[in-house]
Amino acid sequence: MTLSERDKLYNWHPYTQHKTATNFPAIVKGDGALLWDENGKEYVDAIASWWVNPFGHSNKIIADAIYKQLTTLEHVLFGGFTHDKAVLLAEKLMTILPDNQKKLFYSDNGSTAVEVALKCALQYNYNKGVKKTKIIAFEDAFHGDTFGAMASSGITFFTEAFKGSLLEVVRIPVPTAGNEEKSIATLKNLVATDDYAAFLFEPLVQGAAGMVMYAPEVLDALISICKDANVFTIADEVMTGFGKTGKTFASDYLENKPDMMCLSKALTGGTIPMAITSFTQEIFDGFYDDDTNKALFHGHTFTANPTGCAAALASITLLQTDEMQNNILRVHQAHLAFEQKIKSHPKVTTTRVLGVIFALEIKTETQESYYGTMRNKLYNFFIDNGIILRPVGNIVYILPPYTITDSQLEKIYTTIEKALEMI
Ligand SMILES: Cc1ncc(COP(=O)(O)O)c(C=O)c1O
Repeated sequence: MTLSERDKLYNWHPYTQHKTATNFPAIVKGDGALLWDENGKEYVDAIASWWVNPFGHSNKIIADAIYKQLTTLEHVLFGGFTHDKAVLLAEKLMTILPDNQKKLFYSDNGSTAVEVALKCALQYNYNKGVKKTKIIAFEDAFHGDTFGAMASSGITFFTEAFKGSLLEVVRIPVPTAGNEEKSIATLKNLVATDDYAAFLFEPLVQGAAGMVMYAPEVLDALISICKDANVFTIADEVMTGFGKTGKTFASDYLENKPDMMCLSKALTGGTIPMAITSFTQEIFDGFYDDDTNKALFHGHTFTANPTGCAAALASITLLQTDEMQNNILRVHQAHLAFEQKIKSHPKVTTTRVLGVIFALEIKTETQESYYGTMRNKLYNFFIDNGIILRPVGNIVYILPPYTITDSQLEKIYTTIEKALEMI
């Protein structure tokens, strides 16, 4: 039996209806933006394996840092202890995070980073004897699959089965071009008529919704409304963080900085699962008390795992090199050139680019569902042609490793053009 066939016997894959799923390619090797399956077929990873891998697969610099750490100190509990890599990583992050971010809490993945932020927003108020239990989030948001993160996510078929068991989350429209005033007015009305603990958002780009983009100016306005109403703001930078938008963080485009930030995915360059939630001093101080019960009673076994911290340190060092910054610019410029070429295609309705993120929407007769026929046809076409792209309904987006070569990028673009002819 092949690996693909053996996989089917026991493994349950994410977001997968196994009854209709075919065998999945078994990947045995990665290098840069390329992956190879057990039959030797080559794939260009055009989505950096769910946006985690900016520096290329099997990156030697990160691998060396991990090996060195594994053979020095692989893990120590973070409850009651600390270690050099957590201290070094914290010091490093303080040099790149917005100035108002002063404290870091470590966890394991994007969902837990969000979960920690939500819990802090709720407990901060509880500690002060204030009753604020509701959260504000965007329509079509995606913040992860644990309960708080899921409640905040607005892609309904992800969360439908859990209605009634979720945190109360009220939604505002996404302030895409033309919808800014509606979004601002809805938020103003909400905070004027009820108490909310936090406003959670994906800054500038809603990834899972299909790389839906909106302008920093309107996010600044929304954050300002929350600040005036004493509602904490949480920037979920799990997807956008570490260079994807062209700046280190999407929040770097903002005048008004969020109170909390959620980081994961590219944090460790796609190697060790790790996440961080960062906070202002004010939030930390809301838990700082002689009363033990006011502490944040939250933790994970692998909190601040030294190997993850070593991988993150190596990743941030890589991100800061001129070479990587030039790569980000190079990919961005290639996307802009492709956008010019493709935007007037008769089957394309919209294109958008920010940093290394490119998206186009394909004209459809009817509303395309997330995992609908068009999506599946496109996905299979790309896989057949050796390109890993996961369209969202009729939206095709690219978010490649920054190290992708020009010819690999060209292969993605020409395959998308062929897909437009095929569809
Ligand atoms: C913005 C955002 N937040 C949170 C998450 C959840 O991260 P994880 O899958 O690591 O739990 C994702 C995942 O795609 C995301 O895009």
